[in-house]
Amino acid sequence: MIESLTFFGGGNMASALMGGMQKAKRSPETLRLVDPDARVRQIWSDRYGAACFPNPEEAACRSEYWVLAVKPQQMRDLCLSIAAQEICLHPEDPRSEQPGSHGVISVAAGVRIASLAQWLGASHRYIRCMPNTPALIGRGVTALYADQPLDDRDKTIAQSIMDCVGKSLWVLEEVAMDAVTAVSGSGPAYVFRMMEAMQDAAQDLGLSAADARLLVIETLRGASELAEQSALPPAQLREQVTSKGGTTAAALAVFEAEDFSGLIKRALSRAAARSAELARHDEAK
Ligand SMILES: NC(=O)c1ccc[n+]([C@@H]2O[C@H](COP(=O)([O-])OP(=O)(O)OC[C@H]3O[C@@H](n4cnc5c(N)ncnc54)[C@H](OP(=O)(O)O)[C@@H]3O)[C@@H](O)[C@H]2O)c1
Repeated sequence: MIESLTFFGGGNMASALMGGMQKAKRSPETLRLVDPDARVRQIWSDRYGAACFPNPEEAACRSEYWVLAVKPQQMRDLCLSIAAQEICLHPEDPRSEQPGSHGVISVAAGVRIASLAQWLGASHRYIRCMPNTPALIGRGVTALYADQPLDDRDKTIAQSIMDCVGKSLWVLEEVAMDAVTAVSGSGPAYVFRMMEAMQDAAQDLGLSAADARLLVIETLRGASELAEQSALPPAQLREQVTSKGGTTAAALAVFEAEDFSGLIKRALSRAAARSAELARHDEAK
């Protein structure tokens, strides 16, 4: 059980996390929210019973764990404004002038721990998480990373929050977060692009929009679930539906002629490079 937690930013991702925690009956004993939007604060107060603040201030910062859930481009200003509240840096003794050590969980894409530590202070225990949009319906997948050996409690708390919105795994190197961003962070957009293309093609073949949508969504869902439940790798599952000279073989031959695997590799490697580039841009600030 988390004793005290403050969310900084109460938008889509933070609401998904808090909604998931509430559903899983893992709400913290004391919940605080900092968000400049009065509408967001009202929702968090009504829905989750959070004590809400428009700005970081001593009471808001007192929680043992913080979740930083603002947009990446808002992160630097947020961290500097928390750090400016020096009085709130010590969770056990808010009057102490010693910087305290909070568990700081950031969900911001592409913001490295070195940047957070530079803006917020080096005394905290940082955990970086990369969830993806299906977290909004409790079906996300999140990679977590910490740049120092964490004690079990920090690790359990961070993972227990992420487990409320789907599955999670730890990566050992921060550079792997660029790969995670390219695979699962941006991944839903690739699947949506595939859906768009398949639905368009289905309609070109004479199906109604509604039928095309149902067929495509259920095919992607069914194939994903089959891949998860089967002991066979995707290549073998593909071979099982591909008879020589049949319809699937005809379609796959078109994919291969266009270097399908090469296209996917180039796209993911471009996304990973862009993630690294955006993080470097932050570090230069
Ligand atoms: N949405 C996703 O599926 C997803 C997936 C993976 C990772 N993430 C990460 O999650 C983070 C949040 O994304 P989101 O989609 O939830 O964004 P969002 O809906 O825009 O929520 C961010 C919230 O933070 C508020 N905010 C801005 N500056 C603040 C400050 N200084 N102090 C406190 N609150 C502040 C914003 O208020 P204003 O609107 O007034 O600025 C807004 O309510 C991002 O860093 C993103 O990379 C999101």
